[in-house]
Amino acid sequence: MKLIEAEGLAKQFKIPLKEPGLTGAVKHLFKPKFQKKIAVTGIDLAIDKGESVAYVGPNGAGKSTTIKMLTGILVPTNGKVMVDGLIPHKNREENAKKIGVVFGQRTQLWWDLPIIESFSLLKDIYEIPASVYKHNLERFTQLLGLDEFLYSTARQISLGQRMRADLAAALLHNPKIVYLDEPTIGLDIAVKERIRKFIKEMNETEGTTILLTTHDLEDIEQICRRLVIIDKGRIIFDGDLHAVKDVFAKERTLHFQVDAPVPNLPSILSGLPNTILDHEDELQFSVRFDRFAISAGEIASHIMRQVQVKDFRIDEPKIDHVIRKVYDGELDLTASGHKGA
Ligand SMILES: Nc1ncnc2c1ncn2[C@@H]1O[C@H](COP(=O)(O)OP(=O)(O)O)[C@@H](O)[C@H]1O
Ligand SMILES: [Mg+2]
Repeated sequence: MKLIEAEGLAKQFKIPLKEPGLTGAVKHLFKPKFQKKIAVTGIDLAIDKGESVAYVGPNGAGKSTTIKMLTGILVPTNGKVMVDGLIPHKNREENAKKIGVVFGQRTQLWWDLPIIESFSLLKDIYEIPASVYKHNLERFTQLLGLDEFLYSTARQISLGQRMRADLAAALLHNPKIVYLDEPTIGLDIAVKERIRKFIKEMNETEGTTILLTTHDLEDIEQICRRLVIIDKGRIIFDGDLHAVKDVFAKERTLHFQVDAPVPNLPSILSGLPNTILDHEDELQFSVRFDRFAISAGEIASHIMRQVQVKDFRIDEPKIDHVIRKVYDGELDLTASGHKGA
């Protein structure tokens, strides 16, 4: 049995339609009118224990709504959901003991308590055995560098510090599953790195199952092996992260370094079909090309015949390219035997 299983999971919101002013409010009271808003259309998703899944899609695609249904915060309008043998919204308390949740936009810490006090409250709420609590607190403090602000209140610390504290708080009770909804939003690179390392470590050493929503493509590449793309409330791709790159990313980039500026570089490249030149600076340039139309070797040798090249490297396609193209409708995922919409 899968750890997380959703079938035809759907959520529709009823948005009250109110006319402005008091009259509108009164009218609404007696004859309420609603507009329906479909947030999630019918999600089929099965996740095994120990997986690390990136759940991505444009704003408003239905990511947070899905996570809220999986965690039991929201009751689905339709479909089935089962997490480790429980129906989350029907067994909220029991389910809560098995999961950790981090919403980047919100904190689950108590604003006016020192972080360590929040942790201590969570220890009681989740009935974490003293030895487990001590072990995790020490480990997380070290991995996330919490010691510098453990005795400050959530209100006093920076966003990056708060996210680290939130992450620790979500994992103190050794949850089987951690849902992370944009955990790196607004953070600087150093903090992002630290958070990624931590999540990866928990996934690899503890077998913690990760479902991660993010707009940061580095997060995805560093933490996840599987990619699920959602758009307009439905899943449009579900598969291996690297497969999506290999199958769909036609574009590759070759970077060149030269010792001296090259005059009329564009004309040198003009003989090569399906290539685009990008100048980085005087001594560096790159060539984007369609790998199905021309090989890196052909390009490299063509250039090196005419230009004194100091160094060159080829870039793997960035997953953001691929995902962006999916958004732009440039990639037809259904045609390639992948999960169709
Ligand atoms: N509580 C709500 N009431 C009404 N509409 C909502 C509510 N929550 C989300 N929505 C709508 O549902 C859609 C999906 O939202 P959400 O799941 O938050 O998207 P994402 O997390 O992918 O950005 C959006 O159009 C959003 O406006
Ligand atoms: Mg969201």
